[in-house]
Amino acid sequence: MKAVYIQKYGGPEVLEYGEIGDPVLIKKKVFIEVKAVSLNPLDYKIRAGQMKLLTGNRFPKILGGDFAGVVQEVDKQVSGFKPGDRVYGFINTVFRKPGAFADFITVEPSALHMIPEGMSFTEAASLPVAGLTALNAVRLSGDLHNKKILVTGASGGVGHFAIQIARHAGAEVTGVCSMANAPFAIELGAHTVLDYRTVDVFGGEMRYDVVFDAHGSARFNQVRPSLVEGGLFLSTLFMPGLILESFRQKIFGKYRLAAANMRGKAEDYTRIENLWLSKTVRPHIGLELPMSKAREAFTLLEKGGIRGKVILTN
Ligand SMILES: NC(=O)c1ccc[n+]([C@@H]2O[C@H](COP(=O)([O-])OP(=O)(O)OC[C@H]3O[C@@H](n4cnc5c(N)ncnc54)[C@H](OP(=O)(O)O)[C@@H]3O)[C@@H](O)[C@H]2O)c1
Repeated sequence: MKAVYIQKYGGPEVLEYGEIGDPVLIKKKVFIEVKAVSLNPLDYKIRAGQMKLLTGNRFPKILGGDFAGVVQEVDKQVSGFKPGDRVYGFINTVFRKPGAFADFITVEPSALHMIPEGMSFTEAASLPVAGLTALNAVRLSGDLHNKKILVTGASGGVGHFAIQIARHAGAEVTGVCSMANAPFAIELGAHTVLDYRTVDVFGGEMRYDVVFDAHGSARFNQVRPSLVEGGLFLSTLFMPGLILESFRQKIFGKYRLAAANMRGKAEDYTRIENLWLSKTVRPHIGLELPMSKAREAFTLLEKGGIRGKVILTN
């Protein structure tokens, strides 16, 4: 089969696309023909070797977490799936597991979810990492009705889902992205958009009940002046500094801090599917290319400016 893999860590130039040996059906797993995958910053962080401690030094390494495809074979010890089922999900590729950017993958049934009728492979592949992270951020925000939320990275994978879900929850939404993408953020449901290139995002008059740093670059000291007393700061990159600060705030402070990570419980998949079925959430595919063009897709994603998700198809 063909796959997108690396033989060493590095920039987009280390990405290869080619024959890499055929996978087989493994005990207690499901064999899937991959139709679409989506790119996440996690994939280029792994490719660049930023997570070496978890991904190890064994090559070749097939990249990719988010996938959608069709069940080809099911081990006899697995129930609930049959050949022909349209499925999607996320493979955790740390701990040396091969990823999803391939013609075929073998997946644990617990990581598989049925694609709702009418949802395309492309849309399904866009949902797990970005959609479920956004969903978790809004869940952690509590009741957002008539509350003010600021979402950074508003036009990107996570942010474009977060804007839609927060608006649906009744929040007054401010999005942060480049000016070129401001109309897109407004279309998604943002009431106001701030351009991080020209505006001091956290230095204005506005006070927010929740700041969701989907972009994952803000420090708490920066964000604090923009929070109401008791306000919540959520980040997709909850680094040690934020962990320490969250303890400090719990004991001495007036603010709350929490990690907005992807949560992939069955109930989360059901919730995001229901939001899709009710047309509340629509994934936006900013770029779709064949798997053979992975290098180009990564380069464009890393350059920035793309609206929503980047998809590779087989
Ligand atoms: N912890 C988790 O479980 C988890 C899950 C998913 C993602 N993440 C992390 O979350 C981050 C975002 O992921 P993503 O998929 O949404 O990335 P993405 O698709 O590349 O989106 C990036 C977004 O950030 C905006 N942006 C760029 N520079 C900014 C700045 N200085 N301030 C505010 N916004 C800025 C971009 O706007 P323009 O394009 O308009 O410039 C774009 O809207 C990544 O670091 C990723 O690793 C973590």
